Amino acid sequence: MNSFKYIDGTLHCEEVAIEDIASKYGTPSYIYSEREIRNNAKAYLSSLKKPGIICFSVKALSNIHILKILANEGCGFDVVSAGELQRCFEAGISGEKIIFSGVGKSEQEIALAISSDIYSINAESVSEINRISKVAGEIGKVAPLGIRINPDISIASHEYIQTGKKDDKFGIDLRDALTVIKKVLNLPNLELKGIACHIGSQISDLDFFKKAAASMLEILNETDALNINLSFIDMGGGGGITYIDEKHLDPKEIIEQIEKVLHERSELLVLEPGRSIVGNAGALVTRIEYLKSSFAIVDAGMNDLIRPALYKAKHKVVDVNLSSAKKKSLKIVGPICESGDYLSQETELNSVEGDLIAVLGAGAYGSVMSSNYNSRARAPEILVNGNEFRLIKRRESVADLLSLETSL
Ligand code: LLP
Repeated sequence: MNSFKYIDGTLHCEEVAIEDIASKYGTPSYIYSEREIRNNAKAYLSSLKKPGIICFSVKALSNIHILKILANEGCGFDVVSAGELQRCFEAGISGEKIIFSGVGKSEQEIALAISSDIYSINAESVSEINRISKVAGEIGKVAPLGIRINPDISIASHEYIQTGKKDDKFGIDLRDALTVIKKVLNLPNLELKGIACHIGSQISDLDFFKKAAASMLEILNETDALNINLSFIDMGGGGGITYIDEKHLDPKEIIEQIEKVLHERSELLVLEPGRSIVGNAGALVTRIEYLKSSFAIVDAGMNDLIRPALYKAKHKVVDVNLSSAKKKSLKIVGPICESGDYLSQETELNSVEGDLIAVLGAGAYGSVMSSNYNSRARAPEILVNGNEFRLIKRRESVADLLSLETSL
């Protein structure tokens, strides 16, 4: 499924020429394929053989128009802040479709989650569980609770996006899980609904999912022995995707493998994919401002797409218009005053100054991680559907930025 392809030598998203979008909305711009997002969500939804919920991980791409599309496909949502929760509400999504994850929820966030009747608050420490119990008591409601387990599994991806090793800040140590579960049962205002884990992102090997599921099974065997009934097993994020040559994990295989390990369980299976739903459905389009020796200096920087600078992530960068000119090996760098400001360390392009190029695989953790560093206004987002396209987030202006300081 690749919605970014060449038609007559010019890059298109679905049936729309990228250059038509760039002439209307300028550069840099994020462009997404609605068809690919829908298809990626369907791939998860249709693979569930047993009852389950696919909760899109809002942190990957939180634009409310994207959330509406995914809600329309039948997804639930995984949020990690009051901001993401409010985005879901703005998109018309109701609380029972939402799981709240994250290691540092504030009292206000917990209160908002409880009063919005969300499906589960996945807690990550005993202190947090105590806080949820207290806040629920103050509001006069029972809080639906999940417990995130840290199974001590190391996945082969960048250390910053591994989250399931025992020294990571996430979750409750597998060995303490049962003690914590028993404690929850004795606390007021809590309903223990499930257990969760998320061992990290950009997972390219099915074995890691199998191992994580086996750890969950260990806990479930113990809860069974105590006659504790749970409603869900949340296995966290989805599979890794191909940026350059990484293995793309098929959602069907991920779900099959997890369901195989958990085959006798009747709890709902929850998955929280983000990257694999939107990653390859988005590109960042930018224009070459200058060519200087081996550098192409473009109008997008690390403030627009920080993944290369932060994780040394590799993205494929391509010419928007193919030409017969000889390809040159270029480093794609931005206008920001740091040498870490690059989008690609090595790309073969035939574009020249003034030409458009596209950074592929930028749909997940792209726009959402953008910033105003160097007082740069953030890029707009455009959604393509067939041969039509529409603005789903306008370009920020410097006036927008200044207004936070001038309107005091
Ligand atoms: N569930 C939880 C609790 C998570 O923390 C995450 C991602 C997901 C689900 C979604 O995982 P996915 O399906 O996308 O692998 N900014 C980094 C990725 C950080 C991921 C954080 N957690 C990047 O650009 O690679």
